Amino acid sequence: MFAGKRALVLGVANRRSIAWAIARRLAAEGATVALTYQGERIESTVRELAATVASPLVTACDVCSDAEIARVFAEVCEVFGGGLDLLVHSVAFAAAEDLEGRLIDTPRDRFWTALEVSTYSLLACAREAEPLMEAAGGGSIVTMTYLGGERAVPHYNVMGVAKAALDSSVRYLAWELGARNIRVNAISAGPVRTLAARSIAGFSTMESIVAERAPLRRSIEADDVGAAAAYLLSDGARNVTGTTLYVDSGYHSMGM
Ligand SMILES: NC(=O)c1ccc[n+]([C@@H]2O[C@H](COP(=O)([O-])OP(=O)(O)OC[C@H]3O[C@@H](n4cnc5c(N)ncnc54)[C@H](O)[C@@H]3O)[C@@H](O)[C@H]2O)c1
Repeated sequence: MFAGKRALVLGVANRRSIAWAIARRLAAEGATVALTYQGERIESTVRELAATVASPLVTACDVCSDAEIARVFAEVCEVFGGGLDLLVHSVAFAAAEDLEGRLIDTPRDRFWTALEVSTYSLLACAREAEPLMEAAGGGSIVTMTYLGGERAVPHYNVMGVAKAALDSSVRYLAWELGARNIRVNAISAGPVRTLAARSIAGFSTMESIVAERAPLRRSIEADDVGAAAAYLLSDGARNVTGTTLYVDSGYHSMGM
C-alpha cells in the first residue's frame, strides 16, 4: 500500500506506543519510515525498534523547540531527497499531578506546557512538513486524539482541553493545506495501555468501562489504530480530510 512512500513518525517511546504500531504497519506495507524520539533515556529502545523496520533516520526531537523541529525536517529532507508523503504526530504530555486532581487547579505554566506539547506541536510540524509534502505533490498527516476533548472524562482534565484544541487545529489545518493536496485527520482511540496512559489516574476504570459499555464490548489494541492510520494515510482516503476516525469499539456513539 505504501511502496515508495516516505513517512516521518513522531512519538515512539517503546514497543507499546501507538506511534510504533503505526510505524510498523507503514513499514510492513512498504513505506520508508523515519522516527524521532524524545530524550536520551529512550534513545536506545527507539533505535532497536527502528532497526527492525530498516529506518533510514532516527533522530532526537523535543517538540517544544522550534529549532529542533526545523533540524529534524532538514534531516528528513536530506534523507528523503526533498520530499515527504506521510506524517504521524503521536505526541502528548501533561504533568501526572494534573491527570488526577481537578482541572480547575491546573497551574498556568503546566496548562501551557500541556497545550504546547500536545497541540501546538502539530502546527509546528505541519508547517515544516508543508514544503516537503508540496514537493511530493501532496501528503497526509495523522494525529492522535481522544474523546476526552469532546466530553468530560474524569481525570483527563487539561489533556482534554489540549485534545479539544487539537481537534479544532485538525480542521483548520485541513482547510489551509487542502489547496496543496495535503490531508489532515485525527484518530480518536479508545484506551490503550501505553506509557502515557499510565500517568492518567483511573486509567483501568476507563478501560473497563469501554470493555463493558461499548457496542463491541471489548477494548482496542494499538494495532487497531495502526490499521486505521494506514487507511487515513493511504490513497484510499484521498478525499478524506479534516475528520476524526474513532477506533474505540464504538464507545463514542453511546449516551450511557
Ligand atoms: N493510550 C491511549 O489510551 C490513548 C488514547 C487516545 C489517544 N492517545 C494519544 O496517542 C498519542 C500517543 O500516546 P501513547 O498512548 O502511544 O503513549 P506513549 O507514551 O507511547 O507516546 C507519547 C509520546 O509523546 C512523546 N512526547 C512527550 N513529550 C514530548 C516532547 N516534548 N517532545 C517530543 N515528544 C514528546 C513521548 O516521548 C512519547 O513517545 C498521544 O497523543 C495520546 O494522547 C492515547
